[in-house]
Amino acid sequence: MFATGNHAQAEWILPQVKSILGSRPLDYLFISHMEADECGGIAPFLKKYPHVKVICSSFTAQEIKGFGFNADTHIVDEGKTIRMGDLELVFFRYPSEVHLHDGMLVFERNSGVFYSSDLMFHHILKGEKVIRSEWVKEVESIDSSNIADESRRERLKKDLLSIMPKFIAAGHGSCSLV
Ligand SMILES: [Fe+2]
Ligand SMILES: [Fe+2]
Repeated sequence: MFATGNHAQAEWILPQVKSILGSRPLDYLFISHMEADECGGIAPFLKKYPHVKVICSSFTAQEIKGFGFNADTHIVDEGKTIRMGDLELVFFRYPSEVHLHDGMLVFERNSGVFYSSDLMFHHILKGEKVIRSEWVKEVESIDSSNIADESRRERLKKDLLSIMPKFIAAGHGSCSLV
């Protein structure tokens, strides 16, 4: 699972997760950074799936603990790969946490899905939930409104240009076929 949505959203997302998983547990939950829309639903998720492993940056793991959530965290960093079943997850540092500490972005190599969290954002126009886009353009359009620190922004952009996703699963707005 990539993000929980906020607390209210988790209440209607969880039954959908259950309808997909049936009696199987949810094993992993990726949290990009500690904000309400990314993980405000962590309490109901942990209640429903107490053994879920939360995949996140070391800073986010501290935040989760700091807010009093007793979650089993699995800390990742750029350059680390997680392989499980058909999934091959690679991670990118994303300065999205409080005081610009690092959160994470994730790319699943086998499906070509990149979870962009807040980084790539298109408003939904005419109800189109999936639009066509180009990866290089998406990366080049990342600016100081997305990541204020220039050197870290440029570093992330360079790293992102080393992958070639097929689909951008956006945290907000339309997703993109690329
Ligand atoms: Fe955010
Ligand atoms: Fe967001």
